[in-house]
Amino acid sequence: MKIAILKERRPHETRVAATPETVKKLKALGAEVILETGAGAAAAYTDQAYADAGANIVPDAASAAAAGDIVFKIQRPMASEEGLDEIGLLHGGQTLMSPLGALTNRELVGALAAKGVTAFALELIPRITRAQSMDILSSQANLAGYKAVLLAADNFGRIFPQMMTPGGTLAPTRAFIMGVGVAGLQAIATARRLGAIVTATDVRPATKEQVHSLGGKFVAVEDEEFKAAETAGGYAKEMSAEYRAKQAALVADHVKNQDIVVTTALVPGRKAPILVTEEMVKTMKPGSVIVDMAVEQGGNCPLSEYGKVVEQYGVKIIGPANLPAELPTDSSSLFARNLLNFITPMVDKETKTLKIDLDDEVVKGTLVTRDGQIVHPSLSQDPGQN
Ligand code: NAI
Repeated sequence: MKIAILKERRPHETRVAATPETVKKLKALGAEVILETGAGAAAAYTDQAYADAGANIVPDAASAAAAGDIVFKIQRPMASEEGLDEIGLLHGGQTLMSPLGALTNRELVGALAAKGVTAFALELIPRITRAQSMDILSSQANLAGYKAVLLAADNFGRIFPQMMTPGGTLAPTRAFIMGVGVAGLQAIATARRLGAIVTATDVRPATKEQVHSLGGKFVAVEDEEFKAAETAGGYAKEMSAEYRAKQAALVADHVKNQDIVVTTALVPGRKAPILVTEEMVKTMKPGSVIVDMAVEQGGNCPLSEYGKVVEQYGVKIIGPANLPAELPTDSSSLFARNLLNFITPMVDKETKTLKIDLDDEVVKGTLVTRDGQIVHPSLSQDPGQN
């Protein structure tokens, strides 16, 4: 069992899919680890540290990919028009474990199937208790929520806590967190730690208690639709136009008095809902800051721009391109452990090889291609019907 770790090459990416710590543990599982030189450099993991952990360092992506029968990545492989032809570096019979954005990147999945690559899409790890330690979405969203608040603070001309000084008192900052999933919860906790007065909203009723337990105040239209608005998987449902209008009116009134707004709202498989309209931005105080964490999925604010800080109506609007990558040491560390926890149950202890149990719930949830075929139930049907 040879595991190859490639250097990530997509713009804004600084993370790496294995750390010296996980290399040691992968070796203990019986794997040989081959690492492209410099793969961890941007995350402060040196070649020397990997070599000390037992990895073989090779000079380029091609030699790493050629040597591995399993490839770990943190970003889906690129096609040649995106920079390096990483898909071309993979070979038939190889197993790829990486986030793939499989439900939206059908061409990539097709290309992997055509090559005969066995591909696992890590973003599809089911949200069941047993798989919590493998959940890359949670581990990365948690750090992103923290960083979003730091970015807001850094772009804000005032401090967060109330401060009494001999010259007079500075009022505390008001921070509003929209969407209380994993990222939102960490954003609430971080803004509270910095001393802000925190309010938060979500369409899932279960979040109300969570907001309170972190010392925040919950703001939402709590009607019958709200009380039923959670799927069995714990995700948000798309709300009716009527609910959205009522909620928007409440939020519009609230946003006027906020200094910081962090938006994290996502609905799986859909464009992010618009929560902070241009009209609402106009009502905000000059110097206020919005961090739109949903910018990659279309944004919760129509004025945010991917990878940029823009100023509109005196409000700074931040559209971060890859927040976990701004904390690369920790985000790589957690991702690498998620991946280690993902592969460990698949390794046969006797033969020290990968033995994929097709009946396993985590395997079924993540395996997208095998034996030249697209095998995931959400992908095998016509894309138009999804
Ligand atoms: P997400 O990233 O899909 O969405 C972020 C938040 O936005 C969610 O809380 C969602 O309800 C909210 N949202 C959507 N539309 C909205 C709107 N119009 N207005 C306001 N808020 C809106 O969510 P994430 O962070 O992935 O978490 C989803 C759920 O999964 C949570 O209940 C979380 O606790 C659960 N979970 C379970 C795990 C497990 O059991 N293994 C692991 C991780 C999360």
